[in-house]
Amino acid sequence: MEWQKTDMKFGRYSARELVERYGSPLYVYEKDVICRQASALVETFKNLPLDIHYACKANTNITIMKLLGDCGLKMDCVSRGEILAAQMAGFSNDHITFTGNNVSEEDMAWIYDQNILMILDSVDQLQRFGELLPEKEGPRGCGVRLNHVGAGHHSHVITGGPDSKFGIVKEDYASLFEVIKKYNITLKGIHQHIGSGILNADDWIVAMDILLDSLKHFPPIEWVDFGGGLGVPYAPEDKALDMQQLGQRVEQRWQEFVNANPSASTMRIHMQPGRFLLAESGTLLMTVQSLKKTEKHIFAGTDSGLHHHIRHPLYKAYHPIWNATGKGRPRQITAITGNICESGDLFTHGREMAEVQVGDILALGKAGAYGFSMASHYNSHLLPAEVMIDSDEPLLIRRRECYDRLLTTQEGLNENH
Ligand code: LLP
Repeated sequence: MEWQKTDMKFGRYSARELVERYGSPLYVYEKDVICRQASALVETFKNLPLDIHYACKANTNITIMKLLGDCGLKMDCVSRGEILAAQMAGFSNDHITFTGNNVSEEDMAWIYDQNILMILDSVDQLQRFGELLPEKEGPRGCGVRLNHVGAGHHSHVITGGPDSKFGIVKEDYASLFEVIKKYNITLKGIHQHIGSGILNADDWIVAMDILLDSLKHFPPIEWVDFGGGLGVPYAPEDKALDMQQLGQRVEQRWQEFVNANPSASTMRIHMQPGRFLLAESGTLLMTVQSLKKTEKHIFAGTDSGLHHHIRHPLYKAYHPIWNATGKGRPRQITAITGNICESGDLFTHGREMAEVQVGDILALGKAGAYGFSMASHYNSHLLPAEVMIDSDEPLLIRRRECYDRLLTTQEGLNENH
């Protein structure tokens, strides 16, 4: 994305032209940014025996998942729906891991039948897995998720530590080993994911050390999974992770660990990044439908809202926002709202930007991760379309929904309705 005179441009097209062509609101992804982030990760950890599983909860657009596969990444899924998307994107089942939470018996049996590696996050889930085994063709391996420490950009996304529902705590190791023994389960690896949006490399390294240290409690395994969590800067004051330094520190720690534990020299490392790969590639374009000036605020009301991008209402997350069609106008502090019937339906409570007029296109930046994938039908609005800019050209990668789809699953009406 760049500015040409007063227009925000994506490849050859301005934001306005894209909206004219594909409608509003519209998610726009830049392919070169996704590839840049994937290469940055691969380059950062190139000296490690690493498999990167993209945590597709960040963005389940199948074209994007396929692109990440072409970049050499594997896939991590948390539901049957994500697995189906990964399979449709061309990932073979041995390139998919499943790191679910509170998995139903039916889902677990289905995933087992797909022969997809499961990472289980409680002792009773491991038992459920064990109970599947005798009816099937013999012992099958799995991984377990452990809970030690947590970190993240907001309490809602800290996934380790005493307040987290995820993972198996040390106090449960004895019953974990009992279940493993009872069902003759082959433990293939241990996993942790401490949280999301981490910009302090120390948090990640400390957690890595703790997980490596916990290996002493386990029999020899094939891999250790450090999860995801690597953040990107959103607000002007955020400092990007120094990837080169992070790479060197992780490599050094791993080397020390292998030197002290020669039997670990054949072990592989898994990571599950989501946000790092996608956040910076995406922009949500929306159109201003109404302006309201009150004593306290200028409200610019758009045709999008928390149903399309919930990160500000949910986490008070900061995203850059521009008036994509107003550059050069006087600047004003403006609150950007959506069309949802909730007062918290805001992209910002007030941000300085070029004066907004009805019909302007606004652009919410860094919206590629946990944007569309967290969208909903709240207030029975339709989900937006998605396009990817590839070599300056837009490619439609998800068409706008239609109202038929919105209503198809409703039942119970008699023919007079
Ligand atoms: N692995 C596991 C098991 C996870 O639960 C997650 C994210 C990831 C990997 C990827 O984490 P990442 O690299 O993207 O930080 N909706 C929130 C983020 C929730 C993340 C949940 N788990 C947000 O918009 O900030």
